[in-house]
Amino acid sequence: MRLVLLGAPGAGKGTQAKRIASKYNIAHISTGDLLRDEVKKNTQLGIRANEYMEQGTLVPDELIIEMIKRILENDSSKTGFLMDGFPRTLNQAEKFDKMLKGLGLSIDKVINLHVDEEKLVKRLAARRVCQSCNKIFSLANYDGSPEICPYCGGKLYKRKDDQEDVIKQRLKVYEKQTKPLIDYYKKNGLLDDVDGDGSEDKVMERILSVI
Ligand code: AP5
Repeated sequence: MRLVLLGAPGAGKGTQAKRIASKYNIAHISTGDLLRDEVKKNTQLGIRANEYMEQGTLVPDELIIEMIKRILENDSSKTGFLMDGFPRTLNQAEKFDKMLKGLGLSIDKVINLHVDEEKLVKRLAARRVCQSCNKIFSLANYDGSPEICPYCGGKLYKRKDDQEDVIKQRLKVYEKQTKPLIDYYKKNGLLDDVDGDGSEDKVMERILSVI
């Protein structure tokens, strides 16, 4: 199965992607996670990408396309994948279609998670991520320690791009550069809208029902 998960920053893509990929035993390909990993390792790509990520703008298409090309050539994505955070521009979507066509593959479904902007901002401001198990976590309605992961005991951190000014910029970039993909995939007959509000279990249920 080959899926694409669309949605604004904070819509719950990462949270749901982990669950969907595990349920269907397919590769979870998050360009955001891959880029953050490159930043951590201080690679050439990481150093370049970080300039954009810190400001809440998109990393240039050619760097992203190159990264995706390498992944698609890798065996682990051959049995199926879930793209989380890619494609993010019309140019990326068109190049992705061409790449897949060249491999004799196609996308089965695009799921668009939508959540009101006010809620997105609140979610991102309350997000913490575990340094050890990478679990995405929310401090909203939580009375435990804001620093220790309740799942593995690792240290929780706030993403640099989850500062208020960067969140605003990311939402602007989403409206201008990524939202047009909704129409692109609607026209291809691949898109299903899913309400991303409600409990994580409820949202997962809705996603499974459209898959
Ligand atoms: P990326 O990491 O992809 O960030 P994003 O798209 O902005 O999305 P987020 O990870 O912020 O949110 P999410 O939808 O995954 O929500 P989550 O599940 O964490 O990209 C980061 C940067 O990398 C970009 O800005 C760009 O610079 C660069 N980049 C990446 N891909 C690129 C590309 N293709 N091209 C160019 N540049 C690229 O949930 C958020 C919070 O909400 C969490 O706290 C979670 O616990 C909580 N939550 C989740 N579900 C629910 C629910 N149902 N109810 C209440 N709270 C919930």
